[in-house]
Amino acid sequence: MKNFTKQIFRTLIFVLLISSVFVFNSCEKDDSTNNPTPTNIKIAVFSDPHLYDPALGTSGDAFQVYLAQDRKLIAESDAILQALIAKLLVEKPNLVLVPGDLTKDGEKQSHQKFANYLAQLKAAGIKVLVIPGNHDLNNPHSYLYSGATPAPTPAVTPDEFKTIYKDFGYGSPIEFAPNSLSYLAEPVEGLWILGLDVTKHDNNATSPETAGVIKSTDLEWIKTKVSLAKSKGKTIMAMMHHGATEHFTGQSQFFGDYVIDDFANVSTQLADAGLKIVFTGHFHAQDIVKTTTAGNNTLYDIETGSLVTYPVPYRMLELTPEKKLNIKSYRIEQTSYPLGSYSTFQTYAKGYLEGGLDELIIGILMYKFGLTQEQAIAYGTQVVPLMIPAVVAHYEGDEKPTAEQLATVQQLMKSTDPLIKMFANILGSYWVDLPPADNNIIINLNTGIVE
Ligand SMILES: [Fe+2]
Repeated sequence: MKNFTKQIFRTLIFVLLISSVFVFNSCEKDDSTNNPTPTNIKIAVFSDPHLYDPALGTSGDAFQVYLAQDRKLIAESDAILQALIAKLLVEKPNLVLVPGDLTKDGEKQSHQKFANYLAQLKAAGIKVLVIPGNHDLNNPHSYLYSGATPAPTPAVTPDEFKTIYKDFGYGSPIEFAPNSLSYLAEPVEGLWILGLDVTKHDNNATSPETAGVIKSTDLEWIKTKVSLAKSKGKTIMAMMHHGATEHFTGQSQFFGDYVIDDFANVSTQLADAGLKIVFTGHFHAQDIVKTTTAGNNTLYDIETGSLVTYPVPYRMLELTPEKKLNIKSYRIEQTSYPLGSYSTFQTYAKGYLEGGLDELIIGILMYKFGLTQEQAIAYGTQVVPLMIPAVVAHYEGDEKPTAEQLATVQQLMKSTDPLIKMFANILGSYWVDLPPADNNIIINLNTGIVE
């Protein structure tokens, strides 16, 4: 049963999602006056843009076959990014953070196109810092789609990544971690950013490794930088692609590749080192969770959803001189991509996700669990209408199930049918939103408390 459940979860997440830590040191007042922050610092965060350069090909059977097994808005990724860049050029944040999965599958051409978009921000005086996600480096699935069969296109190596993003964290950071793509930068005076590479790209062989880890050498390096920031009176933030901790109960059991290895121990060490906030992505959901240690130190993991998955969100933050982090969340509402029969981009994106879930669950029941089409449709009739709102709600953040939805979960958990019981467990996990709130929140970095 356990393996059975894990198998369907992994398959679900693969198809659905193929898809900054304020290392706040509790500065004493005397320290912070050494490096005053006279005005609010505006920071934008967007994640998992998964840009695919349309020039690599978006027509032909191969692309359609690809899209059918991946529910990301890949064909739309370029139009979505253009819409966001236009917003940022108006908003003019001081800093933009992008915690990984910059491209569909690490195509060099997509990376170069992404860097060109970031160059527009740089030209407007906006600092940008990026890190790689699990799709971005040495990816054997780097394909172009121009006919009936996908064809390989060059994928970037770690060295090429550093070159392409030399203006966005990798050119002249304060310091690189030893033998790592992790770095420390100071994009705004008094604000240090730890850009952490937690991917396992060295393991990539026939497919990219989804899981992530903070290497032990990186972890020790991070601790020294957090300590140094405290002694210098710097505010320090970090970002990494994978979750620092579980975003719902059981995530590490069912979606272990979406949380860093040994997450409980590592997140505790980060919190006790003085880190307060880490910005993450990877799971394509809007979700904030916190880890509070025995020593009463708190680390907030601020996961931002994906630009290619409903609700296509991004975050705008303000760090006040009083060290309050005011987080607000927005959605891309309009792009140049044709909407077909939909009237708005948001309904289009939601419809794309919901339609994919329907087909996906039926397909999994047939091809992964050997049910006939008739049997799969019969199960699907029961579970699909329940799964769709739960998944959608988790991606939106601030999940609020109705009493009826919760009662249905409880009822299904009593089922003697292991397949139904498994879906009930999945549903129950999705519907419980761990604190704090996910979209709009103020975190006091002096106290570590949500206001
Ligand atoms: Fe992703």
